[in-house]
Amino acid sequence: MAEYENLLVDLDAEKHIAVVTINRADKLNALNRALLTELDHALDEIAQKNDIHVLVLTGAGARAFVAGADIAELGGLQGQQDGVEFARFGQQVFSKIERLTIPVIMAINGYALGAGCELALCGDIRLAADTAQLGQPEVNLGVIPGYGGTQRLARIVGRDRAKGIIFTGERLGAEDAYRLGIIDRVVPATDLLGEALSLAESIAAKAPRALALAKIAVNEGVSLPLDKGLELEAELFGQAVETQDHKEGTDAFLEKRQPRWLGR
Ligand code: COA
Repeated sequence: MAEYENLLVDLDAEKHIAVVTINRADKLNALNRALLTELDHALDEIAQKNDIHVLVLTGAGARAFVAGADIAELGGLQGQQDGVEFARFGQQVFSKIERLTIPVIMAINGYALGAGCELALCGDIRLAADTAQLGQPEVNLGVIPGYGGTQRLARIVGRDRAKGIIFTGERLGAEDAYRLGIIDRVVPATDLLGEALSLAESIAAKAPRALALAKIAVNEGVSLPLDKGLELEAELFGQAVETQDHKEGTDAFLEKRQPRWLGR
């Protein structure tokens, strides 16, 4: 892996887990262009690693997951085209996370505001520290969420709840975010990384290709009419049946032993 200035990347090939930590704690891990460029690059590197089957993403320090896009950079934007490009760049990096063919666990260790909340929404499973606070406060700064928040939040909590969160810019505590379905599990702050890693380990013990196909089926299927989604599911189920891991998984069950996945 490359050396990064604003990220810590920890690869555990034996456990098949990568942990990426956004590491700009003095600015509450706010995302500037340099950091996003590094994240984009790190995601490409992780996607190439066949021995990494789950990604955990978190923030450095006890205070913030990510406290938003860097407001100094945001303030320097001039004109519509600048704004469009700013949004598109962040959207492209975040969509890359969503499209990774490995499960992504977001370990939300503190403030997840603006781009931080949008980053969390790109993951597949969200665990939050009981101290975490989430929100989309962009209207306080004269802008709107630009890294997918208006779209992904509405798809998770529903159209009008999303508008309420975005219009008020209010910060939701972890328990409130859990009740709205934004967070999957709230854990004591000191246990967060341990819980995220143990969840990652349990997922990394499954057939990697099946995980990838299941992620594609759900992600792509939700925006399709049901009949088309079912067609997609049957197609991907067929691809799963073609893998050697399908034979290995079913044989291992019948032989009462643990499967040895080949990842193909
Ligand atoms: N962009 C750039 N810098 C940020 C930042 C952001 N989104 N969020 C925090 N920081 C910086 C602060 O400027 C400060 O830097 P400094 O020490 O050099 O002055 C440092 O991080 C610590 O933040 P501070 O505001 O002093 O901490 P706090 O405990 O008083 O407040 C927050 C914490 C999260 C409530 C507050 O930082 C905040 O509201 N941040 C912006 C959240 C936001 O609007 N995000 C959406 C952006 S689109």
